[in-house]
Amino acid sequence: MALIGFDIHDGIVFVTINNPPVNALVQPVRQRLLEVVREIETSKEAIAIVLRGVGRTFVAGADINELGKPQKPYLPDILNEIASSRRPWVAALHGSVLGGGLELAMACHGRVAAAGAKLGLPEVTLGVIPGAGGTVRLPRLIPMQHAITMATSGKPISATQALEWGLVDDIPGGSIEDAAAALAINLASAGRASLLERPVLISADINWEEQEKAIRSKARGANAPLEALAALKEAMLLQPEIALENERERFLRLADREESRALRHVFFAERAAGRSLKAIAADPADLRHIGIIGGGTMGAAIATAFLLAGSKVILVEQDNGAVARALERVRETIGESARRGAVAKGKDAEALGRLVCRNSLEALKDCELVIEAVFEDMNVKTSVFERLDAVMSPNAVLATNTSYLDVDAIAASTRYPERVLGLHFFSPAHVMKLLEVVRGRVTGERALATAGALAKHLQKIAVVSRVCDGFIGNRIMASYRRECELMLEEGATPSDVDAAMREFGFAMGIFEVQDMSGLDIAWAQRKAKRSEKLSEGRAACIADRLCEAGRLGRKAGRGWYDYSHGRPEPDAEVIEIILDESRKAGCQRRPFTGAEIITRILQTMQREGLAILEEQIAESAADIDVVMINGYGFPRFRGGPMHMLEMSKAHLLPIA
Ligand code: COA
Ligand code: NAD
Repeated sequence: MALIGFDIHDGIVFVTINNPPVNALVQPVRQRLLEVVREIETSKEAIAIVLRGVGRTFVAGADINELGKPQKPYLPDILNEIASSRRPWVAALHGSVLGGGLELAMACHGRVAAAGAKLGLPEVTLGVIPGAGGTVRLPRLIPMQHAITMATSGKPISATQALEWGLVDDIPGGSIEDAAAALAINLASAGRASLLERPVLISADINWEEQEKAIRSKARGANAPLEALAALKEAMLLQPEIALENERERFLRLADREESRALRHVFFAERAAGRSLKAIAADPADLRHIGIIGGGTMGAAIATAFLLAGSKVILVEQDNGAVARALERVRETIGESARRGAVAKGKDAEALGRLVCRNSLEALKDCELVIEAVFEDMNVKTSVFERLDAVMSPNAVLATNTSYLDVDAIAASTRYPERVLGLHFFSPAHVMKLLEVVRGRVTGERALATAGALAKHLQKIAVVSRVCDGFIGNRIMASYRRECELMLEEGATPSDVDAAMREFGFAMGIFEVQDMSGLDIAWAQRKAKRSEKLSEGRAACIADRLCEAGRLGRKAGRGWYDYSHGRPEPDAEVIEIILDESRKAGCQRRPFTGAEIITRILQTMQREGLAILEEQIAESAADIDVVMINGYGFPRFRGGPMHMLEMSKAHLLPIA
């Protein structure tokens, strides 16, 4: 079928966009669409037009590859021709109606949607704003307050919400094409006013300054959401033609900026991650019925992720007391997911009904996949794997959720090490999108294919890592945490470092993060490493001193900060320890600027990232960015440490 299908029945022209997989409005599609619009305009038979998309979706937007490289014909010009057509155009919407796709639908004179359609303006997630009338037309269809939310968050809304707000005219029970045709005929006889002549739908009480403040704080340094707000304000204040021109100018300016380059890089990096797993031909393990060992923080959350995805889960704990606690933990996690709206009504009880908790590994013998999430201790893990090996069929895939331990050593404790791999989930595992798939020296194809299928099943982003201490993410995190502690010795304070990281766009600084997750795990690891005489290079001892003083983080009420008043506050005892360690290290203390702190953190991440690539631990630099953004709070709008390194080499960006 042609890129744009075009047929006429009883005066109704059906125009069908056919550019799989998502009908993106790439240049040849725009070119042909413009020709079709003009042919229809001169047709004697056409009474009204139904515009639709073929396949799984209407139109998911402009082609992201073309952002920043504008090519004629421009989308706004085509949309203006549709909007001013002598005949009514009605869009029949299904699947994703996003960005340029929604702008195209808004240029039509009516819209009907399938019940499952999602409508949104995600441009800010790519560092731009709508560039084809989105900010000017949207607040003429729905109240400005909702338009602000849609355009500045980038989050899509459901068809039901769109109907309620006035973005679509109907959600028919039956065929959307038939309903669109009926609406088009009505509009042809009823006549219609141009959307741009309608007033912006605004209630008097929008406080633009407050809006800007709230959006700025949420954006953490990203610029596009604020530009989207400014464009909407202009849509209210200026003549529509001028607002349209200004919107386009803003869009083109932003598309050429680093923020958009970075976000486009992340968009494609996330879709490329784990591609090697998808290419494997082996049959994956059956994921409808899986086993988990250990029902603590991670095991319970991993169980929740599988239960919510429709799998049956057998969870094994050490004894009956631990079984009861694990069951309670999963119940709580599922309850919390329901409260967040992440689970449809009634589905929470159904999910919990698929869980069985047992106190013996024997219970797992029929599962094709088992994930171990017991204590981070090599002896405990190898003993579990030895026992599992005796119980499970040789065909079963055995995974460990270890954060740092040697997956090859764990695999070696079994008779069939090729079926062993690491599946490193991030906490909370039912929420966090990232999954490091740790490929051991002899991990086989079935185990890898299972990891690929599992990522799809749980809607995770899988990144493949080879075996090393901490894999990709924790290894980089350990390196920059060490660098931050060295900066404390040299003159910075925890608040200096955390403030610099927040200013850069991290949700939290490294010391606040440590307080939240607890200082004891890293402490135990450092002790284990020292006992194995593994050198860490020069390392600060400040964290050890805090642990020895019982300052284990938030759970102890004190760590790098004091939490007596709920929020983190600098603490004199911590400063004393830092000064003492500075003296011992012979450091001449000096003040640090935020830029200096960030430069050191970035350079450390990049150095470690390059070493990881050199050792072929990661499959690509882009994978490292995906890990740091999705697992460690690296600001998405900066594209990741390796992207920043590339850009700085190309002199497009100063390092911080
Ligand atoms: N431009 C170019 N390519 C696009 C695209 C776009 N607007 N939207 C999706 N694609 C590509 C993806 O890169 C992917 O390619 P790949 O298979 O080679 O990796 C393919 O289409 C399928 O997309 P994917 O995201 O894997 O499918 P999905 O079903 O999970 O999600 C969407 C579909 C439409 C929800 C999602 O792709 C999306 O959000 N796209 C971006 C929409 C957007 O931001 N539009 C505004 C652009 S300014
Ligand atoms: P946890 O202490 O909360 O839970 C461990 C659970 O394992 C406990 O409930 C314990 O009773 C159970 N257990 C111990 N030995 C067992 C055995 N022989 N049989 C059955 N159950 C047994 O620990 P956690 O935080 O859930 O961590 C588990 C694993 O996940 C560790 O390897 C850890 O490194 C890794 N991990 C943790 C995080 C995190 O943020 N907590 C993130 C990623 C990975």
